[in-house]
Amino acid sequence: MTNISVLLCFIILAIGSSMVMPNVSSAKQEVHTYELKKGDFSVNFTNWGASIISLVLPDRYGKLADVVLGYDSLKEYMNDSSYIGAVVGRFANRIGGAQFTLEGKHYSVVANEGKNTLHGGKRGFSDVVWKVKKYDNEGDAPSIVFTYHSSDGEEGFPGDLLVSVKYTLFGDKRLKVKMEAKALNKPTPVNLAQHTYWNLGGHNSGDILSNKIKIFASHITVVDSQLIPTGKFAPVKGTPYDFLKPHLVGSRIKKLPKGYDINYVLDGPASDKKLKRVAVVYDSKSGRSLALSTSAPGVQFYSGNFLKDVKGKGGAVYEAHAGLCLETQGFPDAVNHPDFPSTIVSPGKPYNHVMLFKFSTKAP
Ligand SMILES: *[C@@H]1O[C@H](CO)[C@@H](O)[C@H](O)[C@H]1NC(C)=O
Ligand SMILES: *[C@@H]1O[C@H](CO)[C@@H](O)[C@H](O)[C@H]1NC(C)=O
Ligand SMILES: *[C@@H]1O[C@H](CO)[C@@H](O)[C@H](O)[C@H]1NC(C)=O
Repeated sequence: MTNISVLLCFIILAIGSSMVMPNVSSAKQEVHTYELKKGDFSVNFTNWGASIISLVLPDRYGKLADVVLGYDSLKEYMNDSSYIGAVVGRFANRIGGAQFTLEGKHYSVVANEGKNTLHGGKRGFSDVVWKVKKYDNEGDAPSIVFTYHSSDGEEGFPGDLLVSVKYTLFGDKRLKVKMEAKALNKPTPVNLAQHTYWNLGGHNSGDILSNKIKIFASHITVVDSQLIPTGKFAPVKGTPYDFLKPHLVGSRIKKLPKGYDINYVLDGPASDKKLKRVAVVYDSKSGRSLALSTSAPGVQFYSGNFLKDVKGKGGAVYEAHAGLCLETQGFPDAVNHPDFPSTIVSPGKPYNHVMLFKFSTKAP
């Protein structure tokens, strides 16, 4: 082939494997899909919200299934209100009263859940087009890097912020998510979280109530009726929140008003350098298991309580508990709780957050 026809082939392939949405971005960036593949483990992404849109894994007999909730088209991701698969920010989880004070200055941010801010406001990082800075679907550790420049004042947050999220497949069915952010001119709160909904039986296999889960946390951050932390920690011992020993997700869920939607204080170690164990999820029907560790101090365990008639991939309809989220992060509303681990990032102090997923299968 001549150079030109190679180039043409490449362009045709690129168009064939992605969907170009008209005028969705302010930054002239188009929205596409990207695949990372390593053997029988493959993950697809879009630069809309730096999202995971599929993750395919074998079960204990080698049969493949897509184990994350999602949509068929990029248009539906853009219309999504459940943060399916996306990276949320600038501040994941809630900010009480949509305000905070930082270095003596008061800031109001955009409220989008009653009086409070959820996942960064009306148009958080899950609702913007990210740049694809690097895409390499070859070799032993295929990876993709998404970046986003959040402007000073965006959704009310102070200062320009350069954010990047790198996804890497490596080893035997391991996925690393590396989130970084750099404040360019002012200190600002930063809390990023990956909001994939997992269903290890397959995204269309029904609810996750029979998944067994272990969470490596002895305490939760207590919240009020609007899910804003009171500032207190409570032991999980003797409550339905206790997953120090593995339990079925559904075994005690009826004792809670809607289901799980709470931040766990991970037990340790305290060092940012060493990853903490977060959770192990096991689906006994398929034999698939997920083990997650992180550098973040907390994890929001969300049992998909608010999913309702969501029209998902391949005709699936997602109802409550169709998937579960394990959103490692700083503590909710940390910006209003001086006792919580700091979420303030400044020009000399960048933000780093690693998630490490290990997938495997177990015999019955
Ligand atoms: C992932 O993307 C590749 C390339 O576009 C496509 O062939 C594959 O079907 C996608 N996988 C899923 C599960 O959608
Ligand atoms: C997209 O935006 C450009 C410039 O803003 C405009 O000229 C064009 O008509 C738009 N296209 C669509 C399909 O809306
Ligand atoms: C957008 O989402 C809403 C629910 O959040 C749904 O009712 C509506 O049908 C969706 N529109 C499209 C075009 O998918």
